[in-house]
Amino acid sequence: MCGIIGYTGPLSAKRVLLDGLSQLEYRGYDSSGIGFFDSDFSVKVIKTTGKVARLKELCRDVPEEVHCGLGHTRWATHGGVTQENSHPHQAGRVTLIHNGIIENCHQLTTDYHLEGKLRSQTDSEVAAWVLDALYDGEPLSSIRRLIPLLKGSYGFCILFSDHPGEIYAVRNVSPLVAAYTRSGSVIASDLTALIPYTRSYTVVPEGFVVKLTPYRMTFYDEEGNQTNAETMEVNWDTDSARKNGFPHFMLKEIHEQPEALKNTILPRLTQGLPDFKADGIGDELFRECSRIRIVACGTAMHAGMVGRALMEPLLRIPVQVSVASEFRYEDPVIGEDTLTIVISQSGETIDTLAALRLARERGSRVLSIVNVKGSTIARESDYVLYTHAGPEIAVASTKAYSVQLAALYLLLCRMALVRGKMTREEGKEFVKDLLDAVPAMDAMIGQSDVIKTVVRPVVSRQDAFFIGRNLDYAFSLEGALKLKEISYIHADAYAAGELKHGTIALIADQVPVIALATQDSVFSKTISNVREVKARGAYVILIAKESAPVETGAADAVIRIPDLHDRFTVFPIAVVLQLIAYHASVLKGVDVDQPRNLAKSVTVE
Ligand code: G6P
Repeated sequence: MCGIIGYTGPLSAKRVLLDGLSQLEYRGYDSSGIGFFDSDFSVKVIKTTGKVARLKELCRDVPEEVHCGLGHTRWATHGGVTQENSHPHQAGRVTLIHNGIIENCHQLTTDYHLEGKLRSQTDSEVAAWVLDALYDGEPLSSIRRLIPLLKGSYGFCILFSDHPGEIYAVRNVSPLVAAYTRSGSVIASDLTALIPYTRSYTVVPEGFVVKLTPYRMTFYDEEGNQTNAETMEVNWDTDSARKNGFPHFMLKEIHEQPEALKNTILPRLTQGLPDFKADGIGDELFRECSRIRIVACGTAMHAGMVGRALMEPLLRIPVQVSVASEFRYEDPVIGEDTLTIVISQSGETIDTLAALRLARERGSRVLSIVNVKGSTIARESDYVLYTHAGPEIAVASTKAYSVQLAALYLLLCRMALVRGKMTREEGKEFVKDLLDAVPAMDAMIGQSDVIKTVVRPVVSRQDAFFIGRNLDYAFSLEGALKLKEISYIHADAYAAGELKHGTIALIADQVPVIALATQDSVFSKTISNVREVKARGAYVILIAKESAPVETGAADAVIRIPDLHDRFTVFPIAVVLQLIAYHASVLKGVDVDQPRNLAKSVTVE
């Protein structure tokens, strides 16, 4: 959750760290801080609650000649949002930043008699003091002695006051990527902070200690032997992590969706049909399974809900979706015949990772749909289908959702072909329909101003409802999540037919109802439900296909999407729902890209 950056090299460390923290702020933004070797070689710390902008103000007098330091942006877990709880934490000769949770921090506090020493309520400070107690002037061996004492997840970057110019780091579960470049050595929790300096990077292997100096980056394995770690190439460009003239990352990312969709689909087509040979996924995986479990969190789970609604009727095998954080409590019936599809933008969500591990333990093969190359979920899966959305910076997921869907549609088509549920001709038609969704998304992006106008009456309301049947219901789940997370308007999605079993009691004058009616087979039934809420005074925004027969007065506003085959309407619908949430957030004047209490990558359970 927290964002981490460390730098040592010829550049101004203040600039590298503060720029990096701005890039990483989407990971957590309740407080931030930097720690660095000052010109007299002492380690200084500046930290504050609030956003990175406030930290930048406080760092105005830090000299440009500072060349080695650490930066941290926090999403509070242990201890409230206070300056003391902000990172870095200092303990004797140790200055440390941490992303993760040390589960046995209370035991360590007792064992190492830390009660009188701790200045914060954080687990991270406990780790800093334990390391200081173990420190004998030898950073590597001291860190190696620390590792077995810790339970939980961590990405640590550490300065030792008697080792100026050096940064040490180690991780378990929590991500860390590092690079040695012509401009020095840099380490961070996410690639976005590294892209300005390099295209090659290394995912720090779990349990390895990495030492960064201005001249090199050295890895040490669990036994302390110097070793090599694999270098990867990033396929994102520097521009992809900037706003490029858009007022918000979210809007930029909404606009990037048609391109992202093409990047995910086109390289995987051979003779007009999906082909995963280049991803190393053979057809036997699809032929041999007799059930599918989809596991994910948040928006990724909603993509899974759409996948399920399409897969089970077509493939004629049971397909279940689980919220990753609940998966283990379900004690799921899975085995070798189960294909588990794990979906995650970041590839680091801890609940999703735990579900993946459980599925593999029970003999299931795991195929993950992931956006971040080399992420933990990608590395622990049997098969990976990378989506090519580029970095997603806004906390509310948009383009990652669309490409997750695109990947699921490709999988569905390949599985249907392999299992004899689709002919090659039907497959080609399916792919053609999928590609038609790309201009349909563009068309809806072009409707942004119209959407802004119809959203205006929603902004002053406390609650909103999203309704739809069948696939439209699966789409509406994401619409409700988008609206509540960035506009703070309470929103819920209901199967349109379920409304009359209780929820309709909440429909009163001007209560917003966003009705999705893009499925031909259930269109008239959904319209009946729209009439029911309209009759009770609701403010209805109806989303329907271009040619759908909507009577005048049936809704207060009608947003038309292009006429696509029912299965593919989710793509333009996604744009409409994202823009509804986006404009609501902007009109309310709240923070679109960094909504309160949320973080982009959730690495705590
Ligand atoms: C967080 C984000 C959501 C995201 C979810 C799952 O809650 O704010 O936007 O959908 O995590 O993240 P993942 O990286 O696993 O897709």
